[in-house]
Amino acid sequence: MDLSGQTIDGKYQLVSIAGEGGMATVYKAIIRGAAGFQRTVAVKHVRPEFRALKNYVEMFIEEARVGSELAHPNIVQVHDFCAVEGSYFLIMEWVEGIDLGAFVKQHRDGNKLVPWPLAVAIGIGTLRGLGAAHERVAADGTPAPVIHRDISPHNVLLGINGVVKLSDFGLAKARDRIASHTAPGTVKGKLSYLAPEVAFGKPNSVQSDLFGVGNILWETLTGERLFDGKTDVEIFKKIRAATVPPISDRRNDVPAALLAVLDMALAADPANRYGSADEFAHALGQVMKQAVGVNAATALGQAVAASRKSLSDDANDHLSTTERPAGNSADIEFSKPDHNVEPLELTQRRPSQQMTTPALKTQGVPPPIPPKKDKP
Ligand SMILES: Nc1ncnc2c1ncn2[C@@H]1O[C@H](COP(=O)(O)OP(=O)(O)OP(=O)(O)O)[C@@H](O)[C@H]1O
Ligand SMILES: [Mg+2]
Repeated sequence: MDLSGQTIDGKYQLVSIAGEGGMATVYKAIIRGAAGFQRTVAVKHVRPEFRALKNYVEMFIEEARVGSELAHPNIVQVHDFCAVEGSYFLIMEWVEGIDLGAFVKQHRDGNKLVPWPLAVAIGIGTLRGLGAAHERVAADGTPAPVIHRDISPHNVLLGINGVVKLSDFGLAKARDRIASHTAPGTVKGKLSYLAPEVAFGKPNSVQSDLFGVGNILWETLTGERLFDGKTDVEIFKKIRAATVPPISDRRNDVPAALLAVLDMALAADPANRYGSADEFAHALGQVMKQAVGVNAATALGQAVAASRKSLSDDANDHLSTTERPAGNSADIEFSKPDHNVEPLELTQRRPSQQMTTPALKTQGVPPPIPPKKDKP
């Protein structure tokens, strides 16, 4: 069911489908105000089949309310919640970009590895948002932490301005609660991101969220799922075994310090992981110092814009990835194959392909980083 063209609650004009997840369809929409004011928002429409689940709507509303109370630059802001003729809509901040799942897939399909400083920047942004939720306090000042429970690549949105935003705080708990009421497969694709202790039946926690961030960073760096298998049972067994294959078997440019950070984040025992999102982010910040001369936000924004352009080119011309010319899918690559301890540099390739669409030009996309000439 495509609701594009319809206006919700008299003010949100649905423009087009932006993406579809397990429970909902997300629309790009416009809200119009006085004197020609207009703003783009994201409208998430809960699929009708979820409406029928007992207590689901109440949980959804409750969690939407919690999500709306979280305000942080690295969290997708929830603005509003509407019920129209039995349909439920969550109105959120619009992120002009792509989700991390699409970003990683686009690199994998183009046989490219995500530059490690970008993975680190994605990790830091995600952890800043997560930390704000974990450290949330109620209006009376008492701690009221929100555990995300659903850290996965599709819930990390990457803006073409280089900003990283974590989404779906509101829905994660509701999903968690209804999982037992729904047919196997509803949470398919999400299973791979469970922390080992959660796979053993323990509740989600700050530490299980941090494991989730370690998991998506492992995937971002390797282009592979950390825990994968043909069946849910196979995946489940792998999660419980908590065996993390070495990243260094897959690429040799990742600094040892970053490998050590991920080892800690992905420790099987929650007690051996970072104590908080801030601690984890700080450790990544230390690693980022090795990316000398890299403006991570600018580089990430450029890579996201290039990735998005490549994805829309692919959708338009229907070329399979094997038919695409090599090197067409990313504009940024490392100039050196092995820089475990040396400072890093990013070089631009194919500058003629940078951000040529008028739509992107008008969105304040930063100019390309000039190639760095002085080598250490
Ligand atoms: N605020 C937003 N701004 C722009 N695009 C968004 C926004 N929220 C979601 N999207 C896009 O819509 C897609 C669908 O989102 P949705 O949260 O419904 O599903 P998902 O995250 O892919 O899976 P899940 O159902 O497990 O959450 C996302 O993958 C993302 O690409
Ligand atoms: Mg989502």
